[in-house]
Amino acid sequence: MCGIIGIIGKDQVADRLVDGLKRMEYRGYDSAGVCTVEGGQLIRRRAEGKLGNLVKELGGNPAPGTLGIAHTRWATHGAPTTSNAHPHATGEVALVHNGIIENFKPLREGLQARGRRFESETDTEVVAHLVSEQVEAGLSPQDAIKAVLPQLRGAFALAIAFRQHPDLLIGARLGSPLVVGYGEGETYLGSDALALAPLTQKIAYLEEGDWVIISREGAQIFDSENNPVTREITTSGVSAATIEKGNYRHYMQKEIFEQPVVVAQTLSSYIRPLEQTVALPQMDFDLSAIDRITIVACGTSYYAGMVAKYWFETFARIPVDIDVASEFRYRDPVLQPGGLALFISQSGETADTLAALRHCKAQGQTIAVVVNVPTSSMAREADLLLPTHAGPEIGVASTKAFTCQLAVLAALAAHLALCKGKLSAEEEREIVRHLIEAPAALNAALAHDEDISAMAHLVAPARDVLYLGRGPDYPLALEGALKLKEISYIHAEGYASGEMKHGPIALIDEAVPVVVLAPSGPLFEKTVSNMQEVRARGGKVVLISDAEGLAEAGEGCLATIEMPKVHPLIAPLVYAVPVQLLAYHVAVAKGTDVDQPRNLAKSVTVE
Ligand code: F6R
Repeated sequence: MCGIIGIIGKDQVADRLVDGLKRMEYRGYDSAGVCTVEGGQLIRRRAEGKLGNLVKELGGNPAPGTLGIAHTRWATHGAPTTSNAHPHATGEVALVHNGIIENFKPLREGLQARGRRFESETDTEVVAHLVSEQVEAGLSPQDAIKAVLPQLRGAFALAIAFRQHPDLLIGARLGSPLVVGYGEGETYLGSDALALAPLTQKIAYLEEGDWVIISREGAQIFDSENNPVTREITTSGVSAATIEKGNYRHYMQKEIFEQPVVVAQTLSSYIRPLEQTVALPQMDFDLSAIDRITIVACGTSYYAGMVAKYWFETFARIPVDIDVASEFRYRDPVLQPGGLALFISQSGETADTLAALRHCKAQGQTIAVVVNVPTSSMAREADLLLPTHAGPEIGVASTKAFTCQLAVLAALAAHLALCKGKLSAEEEREIVRHLIEAPAALNAALAHDEDISAMAHLVAPARDVLYLGRGPDYPLALEGALKLKEISYIHAEGYASGEMKHGPIALIDEAVPVVVLAPSGPLFEKTVSNMQEVRARGGKVVLISDAEGLAEAGEGCLATIEMPKVHPLIAPLVYAVPVQLLAYHVAVAKGTDVDQPRNLAKSVTVE
């Protein structure tokens, strides 16, 4: 949700700023802009739409300078136009912002009453004016920031350049992530380590309320009370190579195909294959005392949580509540002492999930997080950190993060069951054996890529598509529908297959393909009965099942997609593949922007 970068360097920065934006485009791509400082001037270039437009603008109208800031935007306040694009600037100050200034209205009114004129509809521009006011009154950049930060409510990561100070940049964070990168005679600011990957691996993560002055010599960091503080400099480990597309046409395609490897990588942290036992990280609380689990997440991560609810309840017999994060706090949930609150997130920065985490922490819950970015805010605020090892996920539609989340959650469910005395050593070995089979099963599922590509044209013309599943395949139906709608813009809904006859079946006609997820197993017959109800009403079914299931129920379907036969435990991981590939190939057939679908951003850091 907006990406920001700042460089104070030895050489020209514009190209490197744009390069950093490229790696953050997944955070938003409504507009982009750069501002450098050179010869006592703020040199600003902005363009609406994708980054390519800014590159064109800079081609004809370069921005010279060895210090600069840049931004890629996901619009919140104000349409995605050039005038609303960051950096926002006054005569003295230019700045980029990720987040929302919630009290911008009264601040703007106050500034207008003092005679300041605004050129955008954004919340951000007020910060530029507030800082500028102080600088124009004769304050140093440092003192100007000290005066302005306490006036801001909401969430922000800021990078600020000053017309008369070609030797410093100031950054600040509250609620939105910001990192400092240390180079040779250069220093950087970025929304994440990924943005800075080719520039440096030496990264310090700012804490809530921190602000920082960076110069070519390094960084001085201050906390919210303006006390100088040190923040550990870590090695990010994110190399530029891990964020290349390689031979794939899209990041999403690459990430779908990475799943066997990254799921194996993730599992290797949570199981001991030789001993056939689960192995969770050390924790300084007693998991066996947990008597209720509250799962909170958004979007795809929420669907992973829905699958996990089945596992926690089936294996560990622990009652589980689950909420989408944006609703959680507003229902004023009853959180009993002794509860485990579990947050699932690829980015670890999703604003609603993070706010829910803090709410649960304040209520005395033990906090566990399953997160893909181990340096994220959620990771740093957890009592129990359970990282997924999916590697950077660039495609806006989440794929490999989901299957890695499932791998961790399955191991956690087994571990909880052991702690609760609900699982024998033999049952544990059996679960581990099935989990070990997952990477190979994912490979076998990926082998059907061409078949799925070949039948995508049957779904591509549809205006509406339904997905049905039962038990742990119901969340997969929801996930399939989400994937399809977000990248192909086809309206799609997922339903528990047994719910069809309670309303949605009225939607069925020949123009509405119905994708049925039905691995053979205990729930197969019932799902197939629901599928027949659809077919009896002229519905066109795409059945996803294994050879046995297709032999039994595949006849007369619009299309079938064969999956390997797998144990029900790992079926949700394996069946994620065909729903991802179906969405992918339909989107490709429709010619949409697969990696950067309209209106979306990867990391949703506003509520
Ligand atoms: C869908 C998708 C989103 C995210 C959601 C949560 O493909 O990517 O629904 O799953 O925005 O994001 P994280 O997992 O980063 O909290």
